Parts: sequence; structure tokens; C-alpha cells
Amino acid sequence: MLAGIKEILIISTPDDTPCFEALLGDGSQFVIKLSYKVQPSPDGLAQAFILGDEFLDGEAGAMILGGNIFYGNGFRTLLKAAVKDAEENGRATVFGYYVTDPERFGVVAFDENGKATSIEEKPKEPKSNYAVTGLYFYPAGVSARAKQVKPSARGELEITTLNEMYLNDGQLDVQLLGRGFAWLDTGTMSSLLQAANFVETIQGRQGIVVSAPEEIAFINGFIDKEKLMESAKAYGKSPYGEHLKAVAEGRVKY
Ligand code: G1P
Repeated sequence: MLAGIKEILIISTPDDTPCFEALLGDGSQFVIKLSYKVQPSPDGLAQAFILGDEFLDGEAGAMILGGNIFYGNGFRTLLKAAVKDAEENGRATVFGYYVTDPERFGVVAFDENGKATSIEEKPKEPKSNYAVTGLYFYPAGVSARAKQVKPSARGELEITTLNEMYLNDGQLDVQLLGRGFAWLDTGTMSSLLQAANFVETIQGRQGIVVSAPEEIAFINGFIDKEKLMESAKAYGKSPYGEHLKAVAEGRVKY
């Protein structure tokens, strides 16, 4: 939503997809369009673009992994640039982030000019500390490319293989997220707790909610002030409702 994307396909397991649908519905409350697709078995991230072939209908698209959390000043500007690059220049964008344990992720290496030279999935000997985060932007035709991805040694259609295709064709931009950004993962008990503590710290200090879809809808001009105020009231006196009210009343500056 922060990237200005209004049509979103939520892909999950057979058990969890109905839960997401019950929680989020058709997205009309945020003036976006949500649809749902089941991935029958965990066959890899690149499969999203095969499952989403009809949804994308040949157009450019982005993917974000549900367990990834991004937080940082100026993020919206980076996202808008990636959308523009995909839609107007036919280029893919991935985001690199310095981590202590790159072997757990896709890893991007650079030459002395800072140009990306390779992307490897969970390498035993990482060529850099830069992990490829779970947020990807691709130009038109990504589904057709995803269909060319062959299963890896672990039997998955790797997103890294898809990224390598764009890299080899000179169509991949690697945008680094600086140290002022937080990229958090919620894939393990420990990382979920770390992410919760991070969000609690920020929200506790500022009283500003980290990621409120209604606020994003308002900033993007999808909903007006009156509609935002209506949503705020629906949340009652909760901190979430108070935050939406502060936004609607112009007390939070952008
Ligand atoms: C996946 C990708 C990996 C990427 C990571 C980001 O890893 O395969 O390239 O760095 O997401 O969270 P997985 O979730 O399969 O371990």
C-alpha cells in the first residue's frame, strides 16, 4: 500500500488463507482490492508468480513476504522509485541489508564500483554481509520468467533463481537499505519476539502506530479525512483509534 499498490493477492497455505480472508476481507475498508490464492504446498517463493499469473495479467508486480517487517524514514520514496523502474524502465529491484548471519538468506555480492555481481541462496561461504530482503519488484512478464525457474537442490522454485535471471540480463537493481532502516524477520520464536520488542519500543516512545493501513490509505489519497475519522471512531478509545484521529486532525506531520 505504501508503494501505491491497490490490487493485492494474498497467497498462503490451505489452512491459513481462510483466516487471512476472515481478517482482511476484500480490502474495501482501505479502498484497495484484496484477493486470495492458496499455495497447496510450500514449493518456493517464485511459485507466487505462477500462482499469480492470471492476477498479474502480464503486468509488472511486487511481492512482500508476510513475515518480513520493514521500518525506516523515506521508505515510501524508495518504494515509489522501484515501482517506476519496474513499470517504465522494465527493471527489477531487490533490497540489500547488512546482517551478521548472511548464510541464512539470499546474499548479494558487489564489485569495487558497488555493482551487484552475484546472488546466491543461503551460501555456506557468503561473499558479503548483504542479505536480499523479502521485498521484490519486477517488470511486466515476470510470471512467464517464473515459469522458467527450475527447482533447486532443496526442491524449491527459488526467488533467488528468478533474481539471478534479471541480474544476468542486466535488469536488476539492488537498492541498499541503510543502517537507519530496520528489517526484521518473524520466522522464528526469537525473531518474532525481537520484532515485537522493536515495535513496542518505537510505538511506546512516539505513540505513533507502526503501519496503520487506514493511515496509508489516507496519505495515498484513497480515503478522505472524514472517512479516516470514521475509521478512528470505529476503533474506539484504543491507541490505534487515537493514532488515526491524530492523523485525521493533522497532528502528525509528514
Ligand atoms: C527467503 C528467500 C531468501 C531471502 C529471505 C528473506 O528465505 O529464499 O532469498 O533472503 O526469504 O526473508 P526463506 O524464507 O526461504 O528461508
